[in-house]
Amino acid sequence: MIDCSTIECISALIIFISRDSLEAGSLTILYNRVPQWVLKTIGEIVWKVENFLPQPFTDEIRGICDFLNLSLADGILVNLAYEASAFCTSIVAQDSQGRIYHGRNLDYPFGNTLRNLTADVQFVKNGQIVFTGTTFVGYVGLWTGQSPHKFTISGDERDKGRWWENMIAALSLGHSPISWLIRRTLSESENFEAAVYTLAKTPLIADVYYIVGGTSPKEGLVITRDRGGPADIWPLDPLNGAWFRVETNYDHWKPVPKRDDRRTPAIKALNATGQAHLSLETLFQVLSMFPVYNNYTIYTTVMSAAEPDKYMTKIRNLS
Ligand SMILES: *[C@@H]1O[C@H](CO)[C@@H](O)[C@H](O)[C@H]1NC(C)=O
Ligand SMILES: *[C@@H]1O[C@H](CO)[C@@H](O)[C@H](O)[C@H]1NC(C)=O
Ligand SMILES: *[C@@H]1O[C@H](CO)[C@@H](O)[C@H](O)[C@H]1NC(C)=O
Ligand SMILES: *[C@@H]1O[C@H](CO)[C@@H](O)[C@H](O)[C@H]1NC(C)=O
Repeated sequence: MIDCSTIECISALIIFISRDSLEAGSLTILYNRVPQWVLKTIGEIVWKVENFLPQPFTDEIRGICDFLNLSLADGILVNLAYEASAFCTSIVAQDSQGRIYHGRNLDYPFGNTLRNLTADVQFVKNGQIVFTGTTFVGYVGLWTGQSPHKFTISGDERDKGRWWENMIAALSLGHSPISWLIRRTLSESENFEAAVYTLAKTPLIADVYYIVGGTSPKEGLVITRDRGGPADIWPLDPLNGAWFRVETNYDHWKPVPKRDDRRTPAIKALNATGQAHLSLETLFQVLSMFPVYNNYTIYTTVMSAAEPDKYMTKIRNLS
């Protein structure tokens, strides 16, 4: 199905074989999210889209489609439909010893199928783990991942509403899907700074927040992205007391809407934890408090690039 000699070989494809509900599940989610006319438009021009989508993603989608007997148009649609549809909380923080921790909740309203498809995936080249990510089986992008001993990345939606309106035009200009850039950066960037540069500058098909953690003191920040480039970069500033940064789905320099304030409770919980007691365990606890953790939370990941073996994802709200 996928030629592992020419592109990264994904262990998730093995999990994938045991999941026969994917086809129905993914397409249901998709049709709930995206207006019919968008589906129709993409369906009509998919042969064109196929030509300008970057590799190895297109070949992977083609492999998945062959396996599921889906049309390539549907496969590409399923993959693009998740591009701007997640509500999330991400935290990057530094403890008193200068160690960097990074955690995230991924919240999504049509979660039951996705919970079943959530998997930590190790991307292996020449027998070595090049990077790790958390994703949905059948979905080639990553919203969460780690390049061992280098950096960690999470993405949070920056919703400007009708994200699909300019998506096709942006794709045709060679702009990257948001989650594909996370994966490409994990695969290719040599260090924290190079990762930040790539995530800040690469043209995207929609706005997003990228949260990045490194391995040395002060290596943590939130990039607020416009399609074309960075709108803002918000680093940790531990010498001035800013030992953590919390990003949900709103620009950090603006107040959060009252109807969806997950930011203030997260900040309170981190304040109560204290820098000296920060660890992957306490970060997980912060990410487990209502409303940071809520009925839509699909998974929680905590990670620290300096200790890559401790990468941990828990699927939430399993009934
Ligand atoms: C694949 O789909 C086509 C068209 O929907 C159908 O005719 C064919 O029987 C399917 N093949 C398998 C193996 O399910
Ligand atoms: C998820 O998996 C469980 C256990 O295999 C199954 O009972 C449930 O129906 C699945 N849910 C969905 C939405 O596929
Ligand atoms: C968290 O602590 C900082 C520093 O003491 C304080 O300025 C801020 O108001 C606190 N925030 C919350 C939400 O408790
Ligand atoms: C979350 O789900 C529980 C159990 O289904 C329900 O009782 C509760 O009202 C829900 N909470 C919110 C805020 O929707």
